[in-house]
Amino acid sequence: MEEVGPVHQGLPSTIDPWPQGGDGVILLYLGVRLPSLGVLRQYTCLDACKSSKPEFAWTATPSTNRTSFPRLDIPPWLLGYHKRVIRHVVNVFNSIPSLLSVPSARFLGSAVLVTGGLGYVGSHVCLELLKRGYTVLAVDDLTNSFIDVVRSISLALEASGFEARLSRRIVHIPIDYGDAVSLNNALIFYYQYFDVTAAIHLAASKSVAESLKNPWKYYENNVFKMGKFLEVLGRNRIMNVVFSSSATVYGALPSDMAFTAVSEDMVPILGPGLSIERAVSMADGLTPYGVSKILGEAMIQKFVEEHPRRRAVVFRLFNPVGCDPSGFLKETPRDTTWCGGGVMQMVKKALVDDDVFEIYKGGGEGGDGSCIRDFVHVGDIARGIVMGFQNGYSPEGPGERCRVYNLASGEGVSIKQLVEALEKESGVVAKVEECGSREGDVAVSIGDGAKIRRELGWMPEMGVKEISRDFCKAYGIGWYSGETGV
Ligand SMILES: NC(=O)c1ccc[n+]([C@@H]2O[C@H](COP(=O)([O-])OP(=O)(O)OC[C@H]3O[C@@H](n4cnc5c(N)ncnc54)[C@H](O)[C@@H]3O)[C@@H](O)[C@H]2O)c1
Repeated sequence: MEEVGPVHQGLPSTIDPWPQGGDGVILLYLGVRLPSLGVLRQYTCLDACKSSKPEFAWTATPSTNRTSFPRLDIPPWLLGYHKRVIRHVVNVFNSIPSLLSVPSARFLGSAVLVTGGLGYVGSHVCLELLKRGYTVLAVDDLTNSFIDVVRSISLALEASGFEARLSRRIVHIPIDYGDAVSLNNALIFYYQYFDVTAAIHLAASKSVAESLKNPWKYYENNVFKMGKFLEVLGRNRIMNVVFSSSATVYGALPSDMAFTAVSEDMVPILGPGLSIERAVSMADGLTPYGVSKILGEAMIQKFVEEHPRRRAVVFRLFNPVGCDPSGFLKETPRDTTWCGGGVMQMVKKALVDDDVFEIYKGGGEGGDGSCIRDFVHVGDIARGIVMGFQNGYSPEGPGERCRVYNLASGEGVSIKQLVEALEKESGVVAKVEECGSREGDVAVSIGDGAKIRRELGWMPEMGVKEISRDFCKAYGIGWYSGETGV
């Protein structure tokens, strides 16, 4: 494997370099050679991306011999002043151009852009990409994640037996994916080093309940920004895109079909041949989150149609659960009001904090009375997404340039069964209370996984037992308390 150069080096985990919650500053650790001054290390501020001036970055050249560049951690006092200091460093550079020797940037191969790369699904996708030897540009503005996730990915990689240096292949770009100027300039900068061949778009707001309260946030973050994002991809000739949609696009099925596993053609991607009436009827009854995903799929379809070489794979995710088996990578949402309330997190509170877990009525005749879901291990989800981007673009007829797949197991597991599996794995008994049905709950949600199995050869490798084991390990529940990674 070649040595990687301008890659974010895992900043000290104790220091949050973006204490104000991410102000669009990217700090890069680049080695710059000044013949007469010896070697100078520079923290380059891609704030310049914001001011449309990425060109100054070409003066910086990645070190090819890291051992001669001992690591310089950012001193805490620099954090408050970094912009001023860095501007000063840049001015010094500009005033002594004759001293600069500027070798051309080294080409380091191809890279994959992952938006939402530090989120729950995104971090597992980044891990999977690193394991397969890809370089990852993770765009994430940290609105629902933390910078520490970069370190967790490294630890998970090492714990899985991969070389530690592979973890240097992830670059975190802390910008809003819908900020077209910043994203475009970041891509221009990274094009010096990498051929950015594909984009995996995962960044989104994702709470169904929040979308009912604040629909405009969802239309803005998941729809309007996505339009700008796709335009930037087009401008930068990124032809292959993967998009994470959701099972919510299927809405609630009529009661006589409640146990049907939904297949992709029940809700086709909106294309030009589709009438407005049909489009409106498809969106009818969906939550704003669901509508935002339907529109996202339609934009992907449009993006593909605009250029004969573009390809896309849309994945409809069912219920991603669990954590990486290493125990180092798990779901760590910043927004615990809306995004920390998934079923696993609520059972965890019952197992660890003695809270009562409420089991709502759902399912149907023959079931155990609780709602039924198609749970898929997040590691399997990540593997499926990466397989989609590796294998999902075979050039068949124009209709096939944009494909849609359910990332689903095809098997339903009731909430009661899930709680029992978690109790068995942890050795802790959860306090549960059975309640009536909850407004907005879909009683049964199972995806038909036949198409993805047939065309991509993907099927889940882990079931509820592994999901529960890895979850208990990552959060140190019951028998797993005190294990590494907790
Ligand atoms: N987790 C689920 O249950 C689930 C189910 C179905 C579909 N999905 C979809 O999968 C994708 C990933 O979900 P997740 O569970 O990892 O969510 P997440 O909230 O954990 O991760 C999303 C990441 O995107 C980032 N982000 C959000 N808006 C951004 C913006 N404007 N610019 C840059 N970064 C931004 C957040 O900081 C976060 O790190 C989403 O598109 C979601 O709709 C998730």
